[in-house]
Amino acid sequence: MTTTAHTQQPPVLKVGLLGAGTVGSQVAHVLLTRADELALRTGVQLQLSGIAVRDTAAPRDVALPAELLTTDADAVIDGADVVVELTGGIDPTRARVLRALNAGKSVITGNKALLAEHGRELQDAAAATGAQLSYEAAVAGAIPIVRPMRDSLAGDRVERFLGIMNGTTNFVLDQMDTTGAAFDAALAEAQELGYAEADPTADVAGHDAAAKTAVLASLAFHSSYTIDDVHCEGIRSVTAEDMAAAREAGYVIKLLSVGERCADGVNLRVGPVMIPREHVLGGVRGAYNAVFVTAAAAGSLMFYGQGAGGEPTASAVLGDLVSAARAIALGAQGIPLADYAALPAVSMDEVSTKLAVTLAVTDRLGVLAQLAQVFADHGVSISTMQQSEDPRTTGTSMLRLVTHTGRHADLMATVEALRGLPVVRDVVSVTPVETGE
Ligand code: NDP
Ligand code: HSE
Repeated sequence: MTTTAHTQQPPVLKVGLLGAGTVGSQVAHVLLTRADELALRTGVQLQLSGIAVRDTAAPRDVALPAELLTTDADAVIDGADVVVELTGGIDPTRARVLRALNAGKSVITGNKALLAEHGRELQDAAAATGAQLSYEAAVAGAIPIVRPMRDSLAGDRVERFLGIMNGTTNFVLDQMDTTGAAFDAALAEAQELGYAEADPTADVAGHDAAAKTAVLASLAFHSSYTIDDVHCEGIRSVTAEDMAAAREAGYVIKLLSVGERCADGVNLRVGPVMIPREHVLGGVRGAYNAVFVTAAAAGSLMFYGQGAGGEPTASAVLGDLVSAARAIALGAQGIPLADYAALPAVSMDEVSTKLAVTLAVTDRLGVLAQLAQVFADHGVSISTMQQSEDPRTTGTSMLRLVTHTGRHADLMATVEALRGLPVVRDVVSVTPVETGE
């Protein structure tokens, strides 16, 4: 940081920006147009000192000074006091973030993929030099959830979080639910709106939500988790029929991120889940995100807002930047991740879940008794059952069963045994049910 000769002039903090895409361009725009206002808030003049991109000639969402653009990311890092990483991906980003942290430069990033794979290494590098590693934008876009989890709830005991933490998939599922849109059309629209990752597979397959789950769980449960600790299923298999059946039963299907304490540790999972429409998470529409946290003393807390998009995400990045600037001005060190608890990630098998199972079965006497016997053999109790004609084939009935809560491995073994019955023509869908209580 450079101190200016005039006592009235705040010291200058050089900000090196890596990436000027959907989010980076909005961050640059604010730094270029509102630096004086930010100086009043931070006590330092935030000066955009360089912007690293892949192609300096590429069109940008906002006008950026040509002299700041470069393809030399290392030069941008070396010439800055603090680095904002908004390029995404693992390589070469990991080496660049380490370069900054090893030099004692604080880093602000929205890169959940990097954090969920190499978070521990980056945290160690930051701790070694006292630099700050800030990543509010990495989980649920504009929603302040990283800091509340790290700071505001640090004196409480988080029991569980349920999150809709991917804007793209929530947008797609919501469009399918409310307008009957086809999956591909809704996804294309989400991409156009800048919600999706460069490769939308990460969104659709649940990997983006799984990365965010690992990052948030590390803070919630004071342990270090990676994306490999998160059981992950995507939304490709969700059909218009599943949506309609859920709606009929008073539910809505959401891609839910769950982090919860269980007997032997913590279970982390992401997948399409039926939740009651009247639950606060059931009303989260479009690309909005929400995180419902249950803590021992605080009780239930709901965090809600825009989970993706350039300007909303830039808000979270700039919040981190202002905070880092204040800390640097005061000579404060970064806050290391408190992962002392080291709670193991427990496999899905041991978790208590509840399933909605749709079966196409032969419509004849005694079929229900056979099915009921399979449930009984596995110690799984049926909560509700509805029967209708299968519109696809004659002589076949459609059975929609919801189980009581049971050990997940027993529920899945029941489904497999049902699949093996000659009277079961098709296991049409298997969707976990989350009551949110
Ligand atoms: P974009 O793909 O829109 O932009 C990426 C930017 O990084 C581009 O300017 C690109 O340069 C530059 N870039 C990519 N690779 C390199 C490289 N190897 N060297 C130098 N520059 C490079 O991404 P987003 O803005 O959408 O996302 C950025 C980060 O923020 C990601 O980690 C993402 O997960 C995260 N994030 C995104 C959100 C969103 O809603 N979009 C929300 C929350 C987090 P060029 O323009 O020349 O191609
Ligand atoms: N692709 C992500 C989403 C961006 O759709 O939520 C925000 O992390």
